[in-house]
Amino acid sequence: MRGVVWSSAPISISNNIVLFSHPIADDRLVREVLDRKHAIEFSVHGLSHWQRVERNGLFLATREGGDPEVISLFALFHDSQRINDYTDPDHGARGGILASEFHASGRLPIADEQLQVLIFACTHHTDSILHDDTTVQCCWDGDRLDLTRIGVTPDPGMLNTESARRVAETMDYSEIENSISPVTRDQE
Ligand SMILES: [Fe+2]
Repeated sequence: MRGVVWSSAPISISNNIVLFSHPIADDRLVREVLDRKHAIEFSVHGLSHWQRVERNGLFLATREGGDPEVISLFALFHDSQRINDYTDPDHGARGGILASEFHASGRLPIADEQLQVLIFACTHHTDSILHDDTTVQCCWDGDRLDLTRIGVTPDPGMLNTESARRVAETMDYSEIENSISPVTRDQE
């Protein structure tokens, strides 16, 4: 039995692991996005970060609501077009454009309404903090809860959801780390 593997950078991708948890982001899609990614060696915005953003976002979705398909795709696309790990203010918009390209070519089986939320969440994930839409909230909070990877404690005031604020206030990630998404796949 094989399950989701949370990789750590640098990534060595074998054919025997499931890269993302939600089936909307199947391995073929993840690999296609990786092929379009800029090569930033040892990036703190690379695949292992995307995987944790997905895990965090799906965890939040089980408690807060939100669209798990959009949340998973946000994790995949939001930092995919970074050209560096520092100042790159348009990378979110470029990630949204890439998602549009994949959708136009039939690679994202989501509705137009979902695509618009995905594009918005990608485009504004670094220049906006709070939003009313629950799916956007889970996307952005899922991303910010992973600030710990660079030694930054997430600021509860910059988090949208009560569940994310509770994690940040207690710095207890055990529930998230032990969470198994209801959509987690196993492959024989
Ligand atoms: Fe990110």
